[in-house]
Amino acid sequence: MIIVLLGPPGAGKGTQADKLSAKLGIPKVATGDVLRAAVRDGTKRGREAKSYMDRGDLVPDSVILGILQDVMTSPAAAKGAILDGAVRTVPQAEGLAAMLKEIGKKVDKVLLFDVEDDELVNRLSTRTVCEGCQTPYMGREPGSTCEKCGGRLVRRKDDEPEAVRNRLDVYRKQTSPVIGWYGDHKMPVLRIEADAPVDTVTSRALKALGK
Ligand code: AP5
Repeated sequence: MIIVLLGPPGAGKGTQADKLSAKLGIPKVATGDVLRAAVRDGTKRGREAKSYMDRGDLVPDSVILGILQDVMTSPAAAKGAILDGAVRTVPQAEGLAAMLKEIGKKVDKVLLFDVEDDELVNRLSTRTVCEGCQTPYMGREPGSTCEKCGGRLVRRKDDEPEAVRNRLDVYRKQTSPVIGWYGDHKMPVLRIEADAPVDTVTSRALKALGK
């Protein structure tokens, strides 16, 4: 099963992708995580992406479609994937659909996590993430230790107020049209009210998926 997760920054896509991955037994593919790892490793892809990410802008579609091509044709994605933030523009939705068609697959479900802007800003301004495994935390100071892998918790550069404002703006202008695109292509977007405790949101998502 291939599931696309949509939603504004801070809506909980990463948090829910981990939960759904564990429940459904299919891997999570988070383009943000792949790009941050590339930046950390200083690869060509990472050098190309860094300045876009620091400002909260989208990296070019060609970079994202390159990542999706690598991942979706790999054996790890044979049973499907949960695509966390991997589709943020209409050309990315079109490119993914074409790429999947070539290997006899398609997007099966699209989930949209819905949260008010005030709550998004609140979540992002207090978030820390593990610099190793990327797990996000609320209410934990930078420099603390990750419970999952023992890595160090840090603040993300794009969680600074100016970058957060830009990310919300970019979401409205460039990513919202993706919702209509899926609707137009007979792929109804399943809207999840996501301003609720994490486990409640997971239950809502599983119900929407018919699980
Ligand atoms: P990415 O890392 O994907 O950032 P994002 O989409 O802005 O999403 P976030 O990670 O900020 O939020 P999230 O929705 O995953 O929420 P989370 O679970 O962490 O992308 C970063 C950058 O990479 C982009 O800006 C862009 O430059 C580039 N990029 C990536 N993909 C791209 C693409 N396809 N095209 C172009 N560029 C791309 O939760 C947030 C916080 O809230 C956490 O602290 C969490 O603990 C907490 N939380 C989660 N759920 C709840 C809840 N129910 N109640 C209370 N708190 C909660």
